[in-house]
Amino acid sequence: MPEPGPCTSSSGLERRGLGSLTEQETSGRRALVRVDFNVPLEGEGDARRVTSDARIRAALPTIGELQARGVTIILASHLGRPGGHPDPELSLKPVAARLEVLLDRRIAFLTEPFDDRKVDLVRNVKEGQIFLLENLRYEAGESANDPEFARRLAAYGDLFVQDAFGTCHRRHASTVGVTEHLHPCVAGALVETELAAFARLLDPDPPFIAVLGGAKVAGKLETVRGLVARCERVCLGGGMANTFLLAQGREPGDSLVEEDRVDEASALLEEHPETLILPLDAVVARAIETGAERRVVSIDRVEPGWKILDIGPETVRAFEVELRRGRSVFWNGPLGMFETPPFDAGTRAIAQALADATANGAYAVAAGGDSIAALEAAGLADQVSHVSTGGGAALDLVSGKTLPGVDALDSATICGPI
Ligand code: 3PG
Repeated sequence: MPEPGPCTSSSGLERRGLGSLTEQETSGRRALVRVDFNVPLEGEGDARRVTSDARIRAALPTIGELQARGVTIILASHLGRPGGHPDPELSLKPVAARLEVLLDRRIAFLTEPFDDRKVDLVRNVKEGQIFLLENLRYEAGESANDPEFARRLAAYGDLFVQDAFGTCHRRHASTVGVTEHLHPCVAGALVETELAAFARLLDPDPPFIAVLGGAKVAGKLETVRGLVARCERVCLGGGMANTFLLAQGREPGDSLVEEDRVDEASALLEEHPETLILPLDAVVARAIETGAERRVVSIDRVEPGWKILDIGPETVRAFEVELRRGRSVFWNGPLGMFETPPFDAGTRAIAQALADATANGAYAVAAGGDSIAALEAAGLADQVSHVSTGGGAALDLVSGKTLPGVDALDSATICGPI
């Protein structure tokens, strides 16, 4: 056996995982598990139900592993942005109902969980039960990372398991504050899988090609800045590309533009003229309606009164050429008004290009709700190397930032032969 060598951390994302938990750390203990059950709902009142349970299913491996160890599980999540006040429309009760079906067992749903009697109740149950706390963001202390709120939340557990990858970019009480009170603090199975996937994009096989879409450029300029420093090409589409087109001196007709971001977009184009690839043509219409008259026009022929609603076929081909030569690929955000067909064609084509890149041996990662919806609608979700459950968290990681919710976990060291 080789002697263990120096302990190193290669991507900076190595954290202790569930597999590292010892018998002593779990036996007879309670795990506070941060999950991301921020899922879409429909209906009203008691008839409200979950319309996509992907994020709930994504937490099942961690729940299963902890159940197998006989640990009492206290699940905690946010849902939407109720702003520190109870909002019945954003209750996690429908999520508890869906989880009961998926696990085929009873889940104790705790309303008003920050009443000390509820904490006592959980502390005194026999081992192995599963609880779900009501929406954490009903309390202002959650988003403020209030130390007293973090202490009260942490009182539910002994150890902490972070399995809410989609929320790890938030410095909140349930992602950072609680880690000061619980030990150990480990990554759940979902977070471990996500971190392993993003570690590959932090040390990518070149060429690294990114496609970025979405409606607004405001929240994404930093991501673009991070990506141009790391990628051979960054292809821009969707509403966010309009601001770059305007910065290039093109007139995007009546399309949405963010005038206050034009200077920043212009500076990025000047600094990275070879890296940033903008649309060459567009599908335009006067109204965002399925039956509206539409035209395919060159990008410098968008007339007043017309809006850019999708990338055109020439742009699709140009982006496909880039994606085909990528050995590492990242995609976030729709390239057009994906929810209003036929303006989903560009987004669907990029979903297919990602699946093709994977089939050709590239490592391809898709992130964000709309990109995932496009892959699922096309039946391609299982044909891409990794489909991330995170939106903002994925963008932060891929553009080179660290995530507070990951930084707060116990680090794992890799020790190899000298
Ligand atoms: C998400 O849906 O991206 C996560 O649940 C985080 O939600 P937030 O943007 O409201 O913090």
